Amino acid sequence: MTPTILEKVSLQSYNSLALPAEAEYFCSVENHSDLLAALAFARSRDMPVTPLGGGSNIVLAGDILGLVILVNLKGVSSRLENGSAYITFGAGENWHDQVQHCLQQGWYGLENLSLIPGNMGAAAIQNIGAYGVELGDLFVSLTAMNRLSGELVEFDRAACEFGYRDSLFKNAARDRYIIVDICLGLSLEPQLNIQYPALQALVDQHLATGAEITPELVSTMVCQIRREKLPDPSITPNAGSFFKNPVISQAKALQLAQQYPQMPRYAQANGDSKVPAGWLIEQCGFKGLQRGPVAVHQDQALVLVNLGGASGAQVLALGEEVRTAVLEHFEIALEIEPRVYGA
Ligand code: EPU
Repeated sequence: MTPTILEKVSLQSYNSLALPAEAEYFCSVENHSDLLAALAFARSRDMPVTPLGGGSNIVLAGDILGLVILVNLKGVSSRLENGSAYITFGAGENWHDQVQHCLQQGWYGLENLSLIPGNMGAAAIQNIGAYGVELGDLFVSLTAMNRLSGELVEFDRAACEFGYRDSLFKNAARDRYIIVDICLGLSLEPQLNIQYPALQALVDQHLATGAEITPELVSTMVCQIRREKLPDPSITPNAGSFFKNPVISQAKALQLAQQYPQMPRYAQANGDSKVPAGWLIEQCGFKGLQRGPVAVHQDQALVLVNLGGASGAQVLALGEEVRTAVLEHFEIALEIEPRVYGA
C-alpha cells in the first residue's frame, strides 16, 4: 500500500534551522514497502526525491519540488560476537537516544558522540564526529535502497569511503540511495577516548577528586561541553557547524603560525593541518555578528543561528559574508557543511 502522500507540506518543523519551506509532495515511510511505494510514486511522475532524516544538517533555501520522504524507519537489533556488540539501527532512529541506549546495555564506544542531533541514517552520510571519535571508527556496514531499482544494497566500511564529514553518499553515490539501516560494532569493555583538549580538561578535574572515569561519565561530560558551547536547536534553531574545518598545506600553516602563534591547528597524517573555522571566523570579528534575524553564534563562531523568522536566503547570505571575510583575511576558502536544498 502506498503511504499517504500529502501536498504542499510545511517543512519548518522538520529542519533544525526552522526555515520556512514547503515540500511539493511529502510522505513519511515506516517500512521498506512504504519506501518502495513512495519511490515508485515519484518515478511514475518523473519527480525528484529528497530524503529527510532529523533535518539537523540541512539549509532549506526554498521550496522543494517533487517528493520529500521522511525516513521514519525504526528498529534496533543486536548480536554479541567475539567480545563485540553488533547493533543494527533503523535509519530513522534518533542518534542520541541510541547512544544512551547502547551505554545502558554496556556497549561502549559512542559516548564521545553524545548529544549530536539527527538520525542514524544521516549520521553515516556525513560521517559525524566529535571529541576525537568519528562514526567511521565504529562502523561495520549499512543497507541502502537504490532509488531507481528499489534494490537493497549492503556497503561495508571500505565501500563507504569515509573521510572528514564525508562519504561515498556525498560523492559518487550522491542522490542514488536511501539508507535504511546502519550497523555499528561496539565494545563490551569500556574504551575511553579522552584526548580531546576540552574533554581532557574535565576528566583531569574529576580525576583530581579521586573519581573514576567511566563511559557514562564521559558521555555526561561531552553533553556538558556541548551544552556550554553549542546552541540547543530546539531553543535557538541552527544546523550545527555551518562550515567544515579547512585543511591547509604545511607551508600555509607555517606561514599563518608565524603571523598568529596562538592559532590552534591539528596535524594530519600527510603533513597538512586542519584549522578550526570557528577560530578563523572569530579573528575576522564575526563572532556574535547579527544580520537581521540571522547571527553568528556568540559562543561558537562556526554555528549560524536563526534568531526567529529567518529565511534560507538570509542564512546563506550571512554564510557567504563569513566565507568572503575569511577568504580575504586568510586566503582560506571555507566549505559549507550542511546540505543546501531548494536553491
Ligand atoms: N574556536 C575559537 N572560536 C570559536 C570556535 C572555536 O577560537 O568561535 C577554537 C576553540 O577555542 C578551539 C578550536 O577552535 O581551540 C576548536 O573548537 P571546538 O573544540 O569547539 O571544535 P570545532 O573545531 O569548532 C568541531 C566539529 C564539531 C564538534 C567539535 C568537537 C567540525 C566542522 N565541527 O568543531 O562538530 O562537535 O569539533 O569535536 O568539524 C558539527 O559537525 O555540527 C559539530 C558541532
